Amino acid sequence: MTMRRRDFLCGAGTFLGAWTLADAWRMASASSMPMAMPARTSAATLAAPKVPLINPTSLARFVDPLPIPAVARASDQRTHPAYPGRTLPCYRVTMRECKVHLHRDIPATPLWGYNGQFPGPTIEARRGEPLLVEWINGLPPKHFLPIDHTIHGAEHDKPEVRAVTHVHGARAPAKSDGFPDDWYTPGHSALYHYPNGQDAATLWYHDHAMGITRLNIYAGLFGAYLVRDDEEQALHLPSGECDIPLMLCDRLVAQDGQLYYPVSDDPSAPWVMQCNGNLVLCNGKIFPYLDVEPRRYRFRVINVANTRFFDLSLSHDQPMQQIASDQGLLSAPLQRTRIELHPAERADVVIDFSDFAGKSLQLRHEAEGILEFRVRDRGTRDTSALPATLRKVPRIDPASAARQRILTLNETDDANGNAMTMLLDGKRWSDPVTENPRQNSIETWSFVNLTGDAHPIHLHLVRFQVIDRRPFDLFAWNAHRKLVFTGPAISPEPQELGWKDTVRADPGMVTRIAMRFEGEPGRYVWHCHLLEHEDNEMMRPFDLLPAHS
Ligand code: C2O
Ligand code: CU
Ligand code: CU
Repeated sequence: MTMRRRDFLCGAGTFLGAWTLADAWRMASASSMPMAMPARTSAATLAAPKVPLINPTSLARFVDPLPIPAVARASDQRTHPAYPGRTLPCYRVTMRECKVHLHRDIPATPLWGYNGQFPGPTIEARRGEPLLVEWINGLPPKHFLPIDHTIHGAEHDKPEVRAVTHVHGARAPAKSDGFPDDWYTPGHSALYHYPNGQDAATLWYHDHAMGITRLNIYAGLFGAYLVRDDEEQALHLPSGECDIPLMLCDRLVAQDGQLYYPVSDDPSAPWVMQCNGNLVLCNGKIFPYLDVEPRRYRFRVINVANTRFFDLSLSHDQPMQQIASDQGLLSAPLQRTRIELHPAERADVVIDFSDFAGKSLQLRHEAEGILEFRVRDRGTRDTSALPATLRKVPRIDPASAARQRILTLNETDDANGNAMTMLLDGKRWSDPVTENPRQNSIETWSFVNLTGDAHPIHLHLVRFQVIDRRPFDLFAWNAHRKLVFTGPAISPEPQELGWKDTVRADPGMVTRIAMRFEGEPGRYVWHCHLLEHEDNEMMRPFDLLPAHS
């Protein structure tokens, strides 16, 4: 199975090695049509970019400092009907155009950023302390990336520039969750409230507008949202300047500095199934460096890429200690030399530089250094700790589930037979809601992956646990929709034993998760977090029904 996942992303794998533009382009085209997929007709190949793209091997390494996103500051205190008798901090965050130097030697790149920053400002929250964010759309009236008007929700009658912000991993009420249809146009804003009634975790916010999320996030609309709590604080993990969000993505950039988003060779339907860039960005910079001291640091690594998964390691295979996954602390630190992160997944790691004073170390994606740590002793003492145990993660008993749903991940050609659409349980976004869990009930969802790809599946609102993955007989399923297992269930990997909100559903496998549907009743979504898939029907609404009274 691991092999097949690698096949699927083979283009991504060799991208950063020896490279010519022609090679890269062939590779990008190949990776838009994985082997296991049936051939497409017109939209099967990528159109060539007009301006040549930047070749990463031509760039000087480690000449720019790693940007650390500014921490957002509340602009005022306000009341809100959901919290009678209280005043809450209110943050005003404006999406707007900006120009960013992605690398010393690349002309400034026009982007869209929250508060004009790329990544956006980090929002810091504390458990149990609600806050308000006014998300302001201050974007220009025209989009600068290729909208596909044949995609549901992005038709010609829809405004080009639309945005709505979702905090990924937040247990937020439906009205503040950034429902994809709740988008608004430039000059408008939405006031969202976040109760922060959840464990400390590394969350992130990003655009979620129907049919153009992939373009809006690619344009730069994302940032970190950190929830802290007393329990975590009592552990004395590295904090303050030694606690750093690290958002990883990839982009294609033309030699004039313009961002390039790949398009199919059909100008009326430019959507592509995958978007893999040849440049890896750490907090918005290509090949940055970070000066560190010989002590422990905590990095909150977030995969904010459209399609790419990151295969991370340190030079000389130095170990890292993973302390948290998507939804917060693991039960104990986990020593790891390689960390694989799929889109939207997070891993908090502690790296101890104390043996490296005067030396440098690189964070690698596959074989390539993407970030250099330069260890200089400035004489400060490390008072942080890395306790042997972190937080209890009680297992959900799948037998306690009120409902077990079996949901397929499928792909189809559309009516004219030329565009591939990926669906959830054979349904489109506009089909009636079928997933309707009861508030506070436990359910298990089994993702039966009928495609040749791995898909990172994400549910809004809830945190879940991975129960197992189990190989099944695809032919038996296709013949009589019967689940016939062909091997024993495989337990989750150790780093998947904490709380998650995004899970890799491997091809040929049934991936089973369990969760309790805590939160406010209302309409939320679940989807594949490959943004090209999410935009093109691989997303479904779900209704959280009020608990039985
Ligand atoms: Cu990252 Cu629907 O979310
Ligand atoms: Cu989300
Ligand atoms: Cu997908």
